[in-house]
Amino acid sequence: MLNKRLTASLLMPAVLSISSCRPTNGQSIEELAIPPQSGLESRFPAAWVQLGSEGATIARVLTNDLSCPVLNVDGSKLPMTIRGTRTETFNITTCEATLPARAQVVMLGHYKLPVPTSNPKRIVVIGDTGCEIKEDKGKIAVQNCSDPQKWPFMQVSQSIASMRPDLIIHVGDYHYREVPCPKKDSAKCAGASVGDTWASWKEDWFTPAAAMFASAPLILARGNHELCARAGNGWFQFLDPRPLPAACTDSPAPYWMTVGDHHIAVVDAADDKNMQSSFDTLKPYASGFTWWVMHRPFLTDGADDELSKDAAPAKLPTTWQAPGLIGAVITGHKHLLSLNSFPKAANPPEIISGNGGTTLEKPKVDNQVMEPIQTADLVSLNYYDYGFLVFDRMDAGTWQIQAMDRTAKLIAKCTLTQHAGVKSALDCKPI
Ligand SMILES: [Fe+2]
Repeated sequence: MLNKRLTASLLMPAVLSISSCRPTNGQSIEELAIPPQSGLESRFPAAWVQLGSEGATIARVLTNDLSCPVLNVDGSKLPMTIRGTRTETFNITTCEATLPARAQVVMLGHYKLPVPTSNPKRIVVIGDTGCEIKEDKGKIAVQNCSDPQKWPFMQVSQSIASMRPDLIIHVGDYHYREVPCPKKDSAKCAGASVGDTWASWKEDWFTPAAAMFASAPLILARGNHELCARAGNGWFQFLDPRPLPAACTDSPAPYWMTVGDHHIAVVDAADDKNMQSSFDTLKPYASGFTWWVMHRPFLTDGADDELSKDAAPAKLPTTWQAPGLIGAVITGHKHLLSLNSFPKAANPPEIISGNGGTTLEKPKVDNQVMEPIQTADLVSLNYYDYGFLVFDRMDAGTWQIQAMDRTAKLIAKCTLTQHAGVKSALDCKPI
């Protein structure tokens, strides 16, 4: 049974405001590379800030200690509380504290945590990052977790930090170490941890993501690899922004936040069956431009590979189909970059940023050189290699989107326009 407060927080969308920006520039990675959480004491394997429901800005710290540390926020002490005690499976203490609105300087000892800005000008999107050691329909798929060229998530993470974002969105699928490394694949994954444990979460997510943790607050969506049957316990202990449920659930409600002058709705699409009810729950929030952030795409043809080829896991409620409400649907799940717009349909653009590190999936039409595909009702630009997206706010109605490769080299540019009463538009060109 979930307690009353938790039930309310899981069932009701919530409102969040975050606050102002840092400069961006064109420096190279070599000039800007940030060592993974340098300055963090060794008893704290990870520390980060994430945005959640009910206006919450949450600091999380993992510690080898049995008790939680005290943060210093703008000169005042803020004790952290235990979110998850050490167990045999999760032999780490998870600590958290909700930060006061407009906190400026948040210190964990001598380590400075990033804080939100009120009107983020640079937002990075990444997804699908874990190293694949999994069984699918009786076949074991193994990625080379020992070779940073074959599993480049740490490089992508450091490239993201070099872009100095104000906010980072991860669209899900953090944990892929599901079965023991087969003997025949020992060159790729010998010694890899397995299952929903602290050890495998550390290898798949916390160690390679450290540079991102140091650079900006995060919004974290849940992927199907974090379903309760997979790594759901780790998801709730470490990454879900809301109070820890008494038991794992695959049907949490969406939550909502205001970021600068537009909105972000975060849908838990780990389970495709949770999507339609989440969309319906968002009906009362149909006002002003919103980015819908979730793991699974649903507007492009056959976007959900766990359903039949042409099935979509959910449909937009008519309330949200009016022009001027959805700026973009931002997803992952498909392991490539796919930038989609719909010249004729009412659909908003669908941006699939699923090339963060996990074994790539070829697009339906293999155009890895970024030649746009145009049909009567879809314009699609696909990139079949690793990387991430950088959204830069140009003015109230315009975002420039840069598609970067794993080294932060520019490979394509888009303009996303959002004007009141007009369907949002995405126009992309390869470099
Ligand atoms: Fe997925």
